[in-house]
Amino acid sequence: ASAQSELSVKVEKETGVVISKHIYGHFAEHLGRCIYDGFWVDKNSAIPNKGRIRLDVVDALKKIKIPNLRWPGGCFADEYHWRDGIGPSPLRPKMVNTNWGGVTEDNSFGTHEFLALCEMLACEPYIAGNVGSGTVEEMAKWVEYLNFDGVSPMADLRKQNGREKPWKVSFWGVGNESWGCGGNMTAQYYSDLYKRYATYARNYTGAPLKKIASGANAEDYNWTETCMKNIRGDMWGLTLHYYTLPTGNWGKKGSATNFDESQYFNTMKNCLRMEEIVSKHEAIMDKYDPQKRIALVVDEWGVWTDVEPGTNPGFLYQQNSLRDALIAGTTLNIFNNHASRVKMANLAQTINVLQALILTEKDKMLLTPTYHVFDMYKVHHDAKQLNLSFTSPDYELDGKKIKAVNASASIDSSGVIHISFVNLDAHKTIAVNTDLSAFKWTSSTGTILTANAVNDHNTFMDPDKVKISKFNGAKKEKDQLLVNLPPHAVITLTLK
Ligand code: AHR
Repeated sequence: ASAQSELSVKVEKETGVVISKHIYGHFAEHLGRCIYDGFWVDKNSAIPNKGRIRLDVVDALKKIKIPNLRWPGGCFADEYHWRDGIGPSPLRPKMVNTNWGGVTEDNSFGTHEFLALCEMLACEPYIAGNVGSGTVEEMAKWVEYLNFDGVSPMADLRKQNGREKPWKVSFWGVGNESWGCGGNMTAQYYSDLYKRYATYARNYTGAPLKKIASGANAEDYNWTETCMKNIRGDMWGLTLHYYTLPTGNWGKKGSATNFDESQYFNTMKNCLRMEEIVSKHEAIMDKYDPQKRIALVVDEWGVWTDVEPGTNPGFLYQQNSLRDALIAGTTLNIFNNHASRVKMANLAQTINVLQALILTEKDKMLLTPTYHVFDMYKVHHDAKQLNLSFTSPDYELDGKKIKAVNASASIDSSGVIHISFVNLDAHKTIAVNTDLSAFKWTSSTGTILTANAVNDHNTFMDPDKVKISKFNGAKKEKDQLLVNLPPHAVITLTLK
């Protein structure tokens, strides 16, 4: 039997904060096999599709209630010229995708196709406009094309291309990583430029934009400070990008599936840094915006490993193991607990790239362990946040320590409570006494995601090796819920 450790958790009353469903957003860049070969199939493909969009991936993403999808990048966004991606497909100019493998982009997936995909997914589009190599006019015209309901050059062009009514896109990114691939700018220069671009990205009748400024890389607190000081109004959100690197080294990030416990431990340590990074950016934003009107939008996060052996290094194709599900559960717990400021987030990226939800191989598709966490956590979408107080036992390895358990909780509109626990300890079961005396409830059910080993993963030969199971390790004792958290597991409990 595995070693045990104990933990007492108190579930407190509602905090008054809603966990926005947009924390559960996703990201699809023109990168590797995310769009082409992921969402989008060849013209005469035998894979079931509607207008070249794969139906199996649409169904899978609808099941987890995908709330928003960010597009077209990433770094690609600041080299993307939207007019190349409209009109009859064969006439669209081609371009080189300089950021991602130097491949030819044929622009067959453009504005209309992306928005058709969002309609099929019933999710909100989140478009990142080009600041790095595009003009103010180009961005202004894109917004007019998308959102103006009337007679104008861009609205007329849209109608000519087959779309009568505007889409009314709301989430609008003003550049991406403007400190890096989006133009290598300083924070001061970018925040001045933001105001120019944002001024002409107009709010058309019935289609106000939620403008999102390109924010900091990880611990670049100066970037957040400068944007908050300089931009002030006309900014719905400010972004933050933070990736978990197993080794912490961009040159040799580590394998997605072939790692030992020491590398697992380090990966989780790096993942847990999200808590400190979010807290520090939040503290800066609180100084300038104590009422928390401006959202912290973590629109790129996830684990970034070495690519799978033999694949194009520019395509960022990596496998996805139970470890990555633990990263997803932990990170989503952090966001749920910071929901007063973190109102949107986007995992990088949806299909075949980085910490993907879905992998495809010709007509086959598999759901990764990370996908299953989004399935289990969808109960928190737009639910009211509950505060949890506890001190986790440590998970120790080679004299180093991290917190073994993280958790978040919410109560939905029908009064049902959901608690998500993650036990990162690779060996110990943790016995939790959960004090729920503040609530009325009579029964508990649960689901669990775990496997024999942290590097277990789903393959096209064995697509269900890591999957959700019913959890039987919780029992009610008066106002307490006693839960046995097995090692390396994500659990969501439902209390009615
Ligand atoms: O998600 C992959 C890349 O990571 C994005 O294009 C870029 O914004 C970030 O550096």
